[in-house]
Amino acid sequence: MNRKNDFDKKSHTVHEAMIEAENRAISEREKQEECECKDGMFPTTNRRKFLTGMAAIASTGTAFLSSNAVAATQSNTDHKIQSDPTKELGRPTNADGGYGSRSQFENEARWRYPTATRESSWTMTPLDKSSGIITPSSLHFERHHAGIPNINPAKHTLTVHGMVGTAKKFTMADLKRFPSVTRMHFIECSGNGLTEWKQPTLKTVQGTHGLTSTSEWTGVPVSTILRECGIEDGAAWVLAEGNDAAVMSRSVPIDKMWDDAILVYAQNGEALRPEQGYPLRLLLPGFEGNTCIKWLRRLEVSNKPFMTREETSKYTDLVKGGKARQFTLTMDAKSVITFPSGNMLLPGQGFYEITGLAWSGRGRIKRVDVSTDGGISWQTAELQTPILRNCHTRFRFPWQWSGKPAILQSRCTDETGYTQPTIKQLIDVRGLDGHPRFGSIYHNNGIQSWAVAADGSVQNVHHY
Ligand code: CO
Repeated sequence: MNRKNDFDKKSHTVHEAMIEAENRAISEREKQEECECKDGMFPTTNRRKFLTGMAAIASTGTAFLSSNAVAATQSNTDHKIQSDPTKELGRPTNADGGYGSRSQFENEARWRYPTATRESSWTMTPLDKSSGIITPSSLHFERHHAGIPNINPAKHTLTVHGMVGTAKKFTMADLKRFPSVTRMHFIECSGNGLTEWKQPTLKTVQGTHGLTSTSEWTGVPVSTILRECGIEDGAAWVLAEGNDAAVMSRSVPIDKMWDDAILVYAQNGEALRPEQGYPLRLLLPGFEGNTCIKWLRRLEVSNKPFMTREETSKYTDLVKGGKARQFTLTMDAKSVITFPSGNMLLPGQGFYEITGLAWSGRGRIKRVDVSTDGGISWQTAELQTPILRNCHTRFRFPWQWSGKPAILQSRCTDETGYTQPTIKQLIDVRGLDGHPRFGSIYHNNGIQSWAVAADGSVQNVHHY
């Protein structure tokens, strides 16, 4: 009879644990960034304090450089730092074994949501450090329900059956013989922003918005495979099933399969990463991430949805009045300013280029407006090409900061004319009864506000 309270206690713990996890990630990054190489990169509040403190203590930069070297040693590949690279040879070609790695001075990383087990968990993309629209494969957010399976591609098959003319089984080699397509698309978890419904909770844009990423994907259109098998009259849904320990399964409207669904085997010019579904995943452009079934092994055609666990107990949206929204598959238009964003520090008044990302599951982004006064006035931002359907779009907006407190917001409109709402507008429609701690979980596409204080520090706030 205390179930509700127990649930509340559990979600409370998860909530607090997530705040702690973000704090750990922030302090880890600050430790690694205590080096001159990052100067001019608008460091975090704490680091600026560190710099000021160091300047007061050390009359020369010597102490500083040695801490730099220590930080570098703790980073990925450790190479000697040359005092003058024009006076000695660089390191030999291909010394890293032939698969490249980034500079030891770069340390952006995903961090994990502190769920009870590491197998059922997720990681966030560091959007605050992103450039352009592509997410490096190694920084693409992850969501796993039962760990990452290790699958031999030579043994992997995809079975297509149910309401088909001929049931067929395809090997990876079979699939790769079909004509392929390559497209850039975002994937966003429908739980992106779940901690932000009731109050500003996490500090950084990685924490508030890091469950979205964009890759270039290559594979075979699902329509090709459906034609290959033949589809019976009355077919309306397709079950997609993964080959992981959760046997992750979702029902997908067959119209989506005919439209733009892809059986993906490559990501950003190479094979899919294991954590992205190697060797085969379903990609449903603009649909919530969990429907893009990874390690895909089976498609079953039917005249009705299959009512799997992931569309009954999970991935439904409890709304006010005790009702639930089900099969909320399309991701609504959303945008966020990635620079400046939470936990950054602007070094002083003057010119800054505000930049961020906008995306919609209903097609292309048509417009992004930016406000620097908390939504009193809006101005149109510049959209950087390419502007692709169901893909992150980068926007830019020039800003002269007066040095006075400011509230930065972005608001996007997609090609259907839909405009991103405020969080309050979402709450007015859906209520806050969907989760005891968070208020609601899925489909928070509300406008994000970042408050810039007079000292230049940037904070996550709610502002309507
Ligand atoms: Co949904």
